[in-house]
Amino acid sequence: MATLVTGIGELTTNDDELGRMRDAALVLEGELVAWVGPAAEAPAADDAVDVGGRAVLPGWVDSHTHLVFAGDRTAEFEARMAGEPYAAGGIAATVAATRAASDAELAATLDRLADEALRGGTTAIEVKTGYGLTIADEARSARIARGRADAVTFLGAHLVPEGADADGYVDLVAGEMLEAVAPLVDAVDVFCERGAFDEAQSHRVLEAGKERGLAMRVHGNQLGPGPGVRLAVELGALSVDHVAFLGDDEVALLADSWHGGRGTVATVLPACDLSTRMPLAPARRLLDAGAVVAIASNCNPGSSYTTSMAYCVATAVLQMGLTVEEAVRAATLGGAVALDRDAPRFDRHGQPLPPLGRLRPGARADLQVLDAPSATHLAYRPGVPLVHAVWRRGEAVLRPRS
Ligand code: NIG
Repeated sequence: MATLVTGIGELTTNDDELGRMRDAALVLEGELVAWVGPAAEAPAADDAVDVGGRAVLPGWVDSHTHLVFAGDRTAEFEARMAGEPYAAGGIAATVAATRAASDAELAATLDRLADEALRGGTTAIEVKTGYGLTIADEARSARIARGRADAVTFLGAHLVPEGADADGYVDLVAGEMLEAVAPLVDAVDVFCERGAFDEAQSHRVLEAGKERGLAMRVHGNQLGPGPGVRLAVELGALSVDHVAFLGDDEVALLADSWHGGRGTVATVLPACDLSTRMPLAPARRLLDAGAVVAIASNCNPGSSYTTSMAYCVATAVLQMGLTVEEAVRAATLGGAVALDRDAPRFDRHGQPLPPLGRLRPGARADLQVLDAPSATHLAYRPGVPLVHAVWRRGEAVLRPRS
């Protein structure tokens, strides 16, 4: 079954040859984009949808979320807005609530938030564990995320659980816990920050994951300067996320990591920076230096309780100094690069995985239609729900209204 989407006023493809097109059309066939070009040259298809001159762009690729959780931290947020600082210790409240929740409750929360994200244009999502912190609770978090997310990351090294000895806990994370969780996840992550895990502990966790064939991610330089960025680049992590506190040397390290091969993506989390009243990550400086930047929501109940990638994009434009084109690219293709899904891949069972974050033949047919003539309206009309229609894997999950 092929569907022609035509009447596209502006099409953002993220493809170097196709670029940004006017009066465009595309054909979706099965899960994939089959054809992209000028509307006047569009081939016939089984079905046709005219989007009436609206803007079309790839669905958001949200490469950093913590959606397996229970409980609520409204009071902590209120205290922060009244002047209390954000601290890593708040994670413990969510750990207690998550351990007490049933599998069904955790799955329902994840489904509700993933659906909210989808209606906001997010068509691919990464989900981390990290609110279980026991072998059983981390494994069930991974199981619940698996099948609901495009990528699952093991974050047993999120916080040292209350009462545990830090080095003993790292032994557990890098040993038995990893062994139990590894078959269910794609990557290993560590919160490398004062109050969480130091450089040596972070190194151990990442190396252990790497030895098991997992990709690596790092939460780094979120609350202050630290070794997270350097460690991520040295070990060849796919991404280092937060990156609010960066010296020029770290910006250069991230940019240089792309010379001669795949490097480490700098993932900025604008909603988190604002919700924790921390400095905004220097996304402009990173792009100017030549780093690859992704924008993600970091949706979690503590530091960033939003699924809205449109809000993150508007913030990146209005407050971080990115152009709309740069911010949209970072929130789509940038996220795909951070997930290592910007090119065709195979899953662990040998099944092909089409690329994400681009609209060109062969890519996964993930796209959003804005109720606007141009993607510029994402920042020009911030806070306005502009999503008109969404296709994910070639299926109209939010149908265009006539
Ligand atoms: O990415 N930085 C560590 N982890 C989460 C915070 C989670 C929380 O406060 O519950 C983050 O911001």
